[in-house]
Amino acid sequence: MPIASSTLPPRMTLEPGSRQPRIDGQLKVTGTAIYTSDHNLPGMLYAVPVCATIASGTITNLDTARALSMPGVKAVYHHGNIGPLFRTAPAQGFSGILDERRPPFEDETVRYYGQYVAAVVALTFEQATAAANAVKVTYKAAPHDVSTHLSTDEKPTVDTHRGDPDKAFADAPHKLDQTYATPAETHNPIELHASVADFDGQTFTLYETSQAVVNHQNVMAQMLGVPQENVRVISRFLGSGFGGKLWPWPHCLIAAAASRDLRRPVKLVVTRDMMFQNVGHRPRTQQRIRLAATPQGKLTAILHDSLNHTSLLDDYSEGCSEATGFLYSVPNLRATSGLARRNIGTPTSMRGPGAVPGLFALESAMDELAIQLKLDPVQLRLLNEADKDETNNLPFSSRHLPECLKTGAEKFGWSRYTPAVGSMKKDGLTLGWGMAACTWIAVRMEAAASFEFTNDGTVRVATATQDIGTGTYTVLANIVLDRTGVPHDRIHVVLGDTNLPAGAISGGSWATASTIPAVLDAIDKAQGLLFQIATTAPTASFPGQKPDALAFTDGRVHLKTQPAATGIPFADVLKKANVRAATGDGKSNGTFGEKDPRFSTHSFGAHFVEVTWQPEIARLRVSRIVTVIDAGRILNPRPARNQIEGAVVMGIGMALFEETHYDPRSGAPINNNLADYILATNADVADLDVTFLDYPDLHLNALGARGVGEIGLAGIAAAITNAVHHATGIRVRELPVKIEDLL
Ligand code: MOS
Repeated sequence: MPIASSTLPPRMTLEPGSRQPRIDGQLKVTGTAIYTSDHNLPGMLYAVPVCATIASGTITNLDTARALSMPGVKAVYHHGNIGPLFRTAPAQGFSGILDERRPPFEDETVRYYGQYVAAVVALTFEQATAAANAVKVTYKAAPHDVSTHLSTDEKPTVDTHRGDPDKAFADAPHKLDQTYATPAETHNPIELHASVADFDGQTFTLYETSQAVVNHQNVMAQMLGVPQENVRVISRFLGSGFGGKLWPWPHCLIAAAASRDLRRPVKLVVTRDMMFQNVGHRPRTQQRIRLAATPQGKLTAILHDSLNHTSLLDDYSEGCSEATGFLYSVPNLRATSGLARRNIGTPTSMRGPGAVPGLFALESAMDELAIQLKLDPVQLRLLNEADKDETNNLPFSSRHLPECLKTGAEKFGWSRYTPAVGSMKKDGLTLGWGMAACTWIAVRMEAAASFEFTNDGTVRVATATQDIGTGTYTVLANIVLDRTGVPHDRIHVVLGDTNLPAGAISGGSWATASTIPAVLDAIDKAQGLLFQIATTAPTASFPGQKPDALAFTDGRVHLKTQPAATGIPFADVLKKANVRAATGDGKSNGTFGEKDPRFSTHSFGAHFVEVTWQPEIARLRVSRIVTVIDAGRILNPRPARNQIEGAVVMGIGMALFEETHYDPRSGAPINNNLADYILATNADVADLDVTFLDYPDLHLNALGARGVGEIGLAGIAAAITNAVHHATGIRVRELPVKIEDLL
């Protein structure tokens, strides 16, 4: 690893108060942070798509005459005139990825409700909207299927297999066989998806709501049919994405193709209702879990067969067994997955894809097994602790699940748990207690970064990753502060632009872990160059010295043998030598998809949940949640805790509220707005207590950080439904829990 050459200690000192929690906070709360749809370019036009009103069929006529005659309208694009848009070659690593592979308007077949069938471009948004409503589309409708019961004729994929699970299950003295379901869920970041495309005759400058500008550039270049260097993608600030903004969607191509044709900048903002149709969602899952165990509670077999819906055209697999193979020690295991095709837009990754629905099923089943065996659910998990990853026989780089379970139990007061349903009361309410384990993959992606000491006394760190709102700007500033002693007001962090060194996706909870090594390497290289300048320039600050006789402390270059206070500020070293900047290019290799990995790298955790239940009025509330997370070293405690808290709140939504309903008659997502698609609000949020174990995972990077964006959502829904069962005696195996389930 490049960081091995680091001359600096591999630990960040975390002194609360020594750093700002958010270097971008002021920009955001004052409205100075420019989000994608805030870009207003000279001569800019507005594009508004026309969405199909059937879920399956063909377009027989598209009458644009009236729309074209309306004020301000510049063009109406459709199958006949969008111009060349190509399909991408199969993805290579983290390049060329998109979930809905068909370019917009490629054919005249409608495969899901809301599919873009045309787009109007006009001088104003209002004119474009009015004209879009005036485009008359005639269809020949065909039967569609948006049904929620999933079955498939396609052959399932075996995701992981060991031992003889069928025999072990058949022979087991204790077994459980249940099916769990999670609904389609729609990402609802506050910031709408948007594209502002500007084609100058040669180069596309694309302002995008993208969690991955480098991939976005590659996909757009392929689909627009231009060399990659003719596409620049910019995504400076994001109002979150939850995975929905990882890969490009058709609207990006519509904006770019319109700008290409009209030679003017074009803005397209995806409306909230379109966000329920055209930019992915977490698909419905249906998961059969079979567990077999000895009377003492040792697991002898796990069978996990999952299905998820996907679109007619694209094979999006949710990967529900992501965690099943390694979370517990079990000699016999098989996990399979299959796809059921529906007339719904293509699904995509949503916060904790795979593990989140998968652990709802597995951790519900573990609770049911504990009850069957009359074992404490915490104890059942401790009994089945895995001391290596049994899917690949690799050691874990760092795994502290038992400590998460024990610490959580201790903080929650689990020793007072009485297992009988409805047996715990407080203030006239019935209490339900439940718990679940969680895990999420940790990897490092290949990344590059540059770092610059500048003669005006500032430093600059740059990489083409993004800050989706989680605090990437701040974490990088803090690393620079710790490594160089240069204060925050002299640190520039530049992200979200493909002109910068290629950086990591803001996904998978990998951005921090991937970016750190590249940034540390860049700082080291820049410092080496600075020492060279300080010793070898004609007007060197340390003439006659060797570069390696120098050290860098708190912004000053000094002789190792002398105290830092005697040093010369780096700006003066550069000025004296008449050099503008000392720049280092840093790199880190990736661990994702490594040929010969040495370790299995994952984060772990545990949730403990208390619900209150009033059977007289069927009132269920989540009152208290204790979460303990083992995610390596925590670099910036407050935003890290916010990530887990936010995920836990999202988990309350997953357990109790969130569900996208597709109307069986029209195929339309009918609760396509923030009033009818119910999310957890402040009033639904329990007392949250988040603890980090903070064991550095030094196999992953020099600071030992793994990432905290997703793990908090894994397992939490099961912990809640386990608590619901404890309070009510009702086992809800299909999310979300509805009042009518509990009557
Ligand atoms: Mo996350 S679903 O990888 O943005």
